[in-house]
Amino acid sequence: MSNPSILILPGDGIGPEVMAEVRKVIDWYGAKRDLAFDVSEDLVGGAAYDKHGVPLADETMAKAQEVDAVLLGAVGGPKYDVLDFSVKPERGLLRLRKEMDLFANLRPAQCFDALADFSSLKKDVVAGLDIMIVRELTSGVYFGEPRGIFEEGNERVGINTQRYTESEIERAARAAFELAMKRNKKLCSMEKANVMESGILWREVVTRVGEEYPEVELSHMYADNGAMQLVRAPKQFDVIVTDNLFGDILSDCAAMLTGSLGMLPSASLGAPMANGRPKAMYEPVHGSAPDIAGQGKANPIACILSFAMALRYSFDQGDEATRLETAIEKVLADGVRTADLMGPEGGTPVSTSEMGDKIIEALDASL
Ligand code: IPM
Ligand code: MG
Repeated sequence: MSNPSILILPGDGIGPEVMAEVRKVIDWYGAKRDLAFDVSEDLVGGAAYDKHGVPLADETMAKAQEVDAVLLGAVGGPKYDVLDFSVKPERGLLRLRKEMDLFANLRPAQCFDALADFSSLKKDVVAGLDIMIVRELTSGVYFGEPRGIFEEGNERVGINTQRYTESEIERAARAAFELAMKRNKKLCSMEKANVMESGILWREVVTRVGEEYPEVELSHMYADNGAMQLVRAPKQFDVIVTDNLFGDILSDCAAMLTGSLGMLPSASLGAPMANGRPKAMYEPVHGSAPDIAGQGKANPIACILSFAMALRYSFDQGDEATRLETAIEKVLADGVRTADLMGPEGGTPVSTSEMGDKIIEALDASL
């Protein structure tokens, strides 16, 4: 049987630097755990625009459809701000999500013990926090029609449409319930059923799917209250399921309260392929950080943790994912710090590639 395949799309800004460290980890698994992957690499975002005039070439899209998993770094940068909306770096990312039909976006927000002091919230509010946001990723106001800027009388009107079908809500809800079953059997669904019809339907469908999961304690919250509760008492949540736009906002909020934006991975999953693996793309939650790109300052941990999610969700290697996560915790507990993690208590300052090397050392020590 051939090795599982991975397409790496480093993208822009710090993307290529952090992805180089992921490459070390992938190679380690091939050499030390007999888990070899066929890795190919291609362009996305501004890097693809510079070469092809589009943020994602058709050939790259076709490759992404064929591989077992896509790993993406980050897209965007000031250089591309002037581009037309249709070829902005972000459009490459959105095309991947849409055409691969990656409807379930898993965004864990976890507070690492060694970093609890970094949160803008009090330590006891966030210490031990471990929640999972499931964001619907291929529909809603991001893709709904009609959309555009139109003339209306003597002025213009900007239109976007929030649109959800029952089946779209249902499959996102099911992904969230399945996750809840593997975690603490607690799920909170967030929408604005008080003002939006799409929210009323969302609540109805999630409740209906919930009947298939009687063990899961399901609750509903208006998304604005959800934002407030996330900041007030985040540990009341375990799994949260919500739509594309609310999920975008709530996941940034949840990420920041862990104090470790440079640490958070994500997985975007679709339907199972012929080989049983889900269509999948993994990427760090952070952006391309153009201000520090190319200086060896970036923290590669979010991107490496995204590969850990790939081990767990695409390659059925949950134990190896845990090995990698534990190695990272060990390195952090030892005080190894990229610039973004350097707090008043100090630590050993390291560059992007030194952080990667330390993680490899910890992996070696785990054998
Ligand atoms: C995210 C980002 C994207 C989004 C952008 C870059 C298009 O904010 O992944 O959360 O809005 O979905
Ligand atoms: Mg976002």
